[in-house]
Amino acid sequence: MAEEVETRLKRLKEIYIKPPEAEVPDPDGFLKLVHWHLDSWQREIIDTLLEDRPVKIAALCGRQVGKSETAALYVAYRMQLEANTEALCISPSLRQSTNIFRKVLKWWRRSRVIEGKATALSLQLVNGSTCFTLPSSSDKVRGYSANVVVIDEASRVEPDVWVSVLPAMSAQKNPKLLLLTTGAAKHGDFYEEWTNGVGYNRWTVPSSTCPRISAENLEDARRKLGTMFAAEHECGFIEEGAGNIFTREMINRCYNPDVDTSLESRINAALGEDDYADDDYHRDAKGRDSVADSDSEIEIDELHTGV
Ligand SMILES: Nc1ncnc2c1ncn2[C@@H]1O[C@H](COP(=O)(O)OP(=O)(O)O)[C@@H](O)[C@H]1O
Ligand SMILES: [Mg+2]
Repeated sequence: MAEEVETRLKRLKEIYIKPPEAEVPDPDGFLKLVHWHLDSWQREIIDTLLEDRPVKIAALCGRQVGKSETAALYVAYRMQLEANTEALCISPSLRQSTNIFRKVLKWWRRSRVIEGKATALSLQLVNGSTCFTLPSSSDKVRGYSANVVVIDEASRVEPDVWVSVLPAMSAQKNPKLLLLTTGAAKHGDFYEEWTNGVGYNRWTVPSSTCPRISAENLEDARRKLGTMFAAEHECGFIEEGAGNIFTREMINRCYNPDVDTSLESRINAALGEDDYADDDYHRDAKGRDSVADSDSEIEIDELHTGV
């Protein structure tokens, strides 16, 4: 009887689980497998992320140049290449999170060297790698650990996301942080990191350098967007509410300079607290975590959180 069960189990494993030693090709082989050609800056970013060291990347790019696609391709490749990869994709809204996650799924399905299963917002592979996608909000981000974190549209996520997610990587070996964004207002965490952050590999990719965006379309956008054009397509940071009487610098000078509002001090302050008192976060009777988004509710399998 026991022998029969064992034989059946073996047979099931053969059918449903590809051997974990299934060979994941090198980057060139992977791109061939998924029939994709990267722009040179996209390839540089992926090669940098694959280096055997902690990597922090900040890419300030025009709209539609291929930021999310690049990040998603890297996540899908890395999850298969390295067992037990824990990837988090964070975007300002649920819709944008879903968008980047669909791209991760697309690249995984096209390559599918390592088997796995997907839900609407997560992917788990048989080699132990996971990817979760989250809309930006500190209470939703908190409790995960990750060795790969992608923050898409990083200049637009809520400030507390930075405070919550960066510690999630702190105990990891060779963590990879990938910040992608179009330009935005001249303040906030991304602006601070871009201008003062240490240890970043930085890329600037204006829309005009993208072979898929025509000069004609850009001219049209310039007319329609006015002052926002610089932020959307030319990797610029603009004065918040350009045309306002008071600039951000003038407002900053009104604050008490003795109060440390830096990202680092906020991270330290956040590490000292650990409550989930927010109304939007709760566990249901089955022990699953659930987060209420503004217009929808997402259930997250209990496997997904480390709380
Ligand atoms: N290397 C590439 N080759 C062909 N198409 C690409 C490439 N990179 C991105 N794209 C396409 O360009 C479009 C915009 O890409 P996306 O990553 O969504 O842009 P962004 O996040 O910068 O706004 C998508 O249709 C995407 O598939
Ligand atoms: Mg995008």
